[in-house]
Amino acid sequence: MSEKIYLNGNIIDREDASLDIEDRGYQFADGVYEVVAFYQGEPFTLKEHMERLVFSASEIDIEIPSADILIKEAKNYLAETNFANNNAKLYVQVSRGVAPRTHAYPDEMEPIIIMQVGPLNPNPEKYFKEGVKIITLPDERWSRCYIKSIALLPNILAKKKAKKAGAYEAVMTRDGFITEGSSSNLFIVEGNTIITPPATNYILNGITRQKVINRLAPELEYDVKEESIPYYTLLNADQVFLTGTTTEIMPVVQINDKVVGNGNVGTETKEIFEAFRELTGFVRGK
Ligand code: PDD
Repeated sequence: MSEKIYLNGNIIDREDASLDIEDRGYQFADGVYEVVAFYQGEPFTLKEHMERLVFSASEIDIEIPSADILIKEAKNYLAETNFANNNAKLYVQVSRGVAPRTHAYPDEMEPIIIMQVGPLNPNPEKYFKEGVKIITLPDERWSRCYIKSIALLPNILAKKKAKKAGAYEAVMTRDGFITEGSSSNLFIVEGNTIITPPATNYILNGITRQKVINRLAPELEYDVKEESIPYYTLLNADQVFLTGTTTEIMPVVQINDKVVGNGNVGTETKEIFEAFRELTGFVRGK
């Protein structure tokens, strides 16, 4: 089956999908997006992602159909692709639409919604078992990071720096405090308590983050603190992990040149990872 794309309500062959060069998503990064995982064809937290998409869009003055409608559209689209019963990653993008290039957008715009499904490409199992390295960098982003904007230049540059340093992720600091990773949220573990920066305007309130706080931590009887984490607290933490749709629950065992704790994945982090895997129903290779 050829690759199918969802473009404004139509499911078409990828070769037939095209966009106008004056699409504002292309010219101004004027849009928002979501990434959703499907496990053996079953969407994971699709509702939460679509609700966040509608919220992000409304925060930048773009009106799109309701989350309920988008959920139906996404499911119908998936059913018509090679990924109907497989692990998959769904990318959903909304751009403000097409108009002659001027900064101020016209009052009446027709947003363009695209969906593209592809393989989930989970991280190697070794990363989860042995942990990964992260680097830290200054957060150079704007002050409305709670919006899942497609304007990701600081994020992609940070991630590239991480890759060049042999690290999995770049975690950013603002005024001496941790914000988040370039495409993930961060937690530290202190005894029976897990701590993560509060969901202010300076971070994206990750759906995975929320699952850890509201579902896994209570189930595993961990206390949760949403409080600012100074850079030096991170460096001295016993356990650190990242969360995200494709990141899942990723243990961190090295920060820049410093080993975290004893260099092994901690018990609590492992428990949270395993509980998350159970929740998603992930089966490798499906
Ligand atoms: N990124 N913070 C940032 C800046 C992110 O881009 C992401 C996700 C997260 C984690 O959010 P969630 O748990 O809802 O996936 C946190 C996606 C996966 C991406 O850009 O590909």
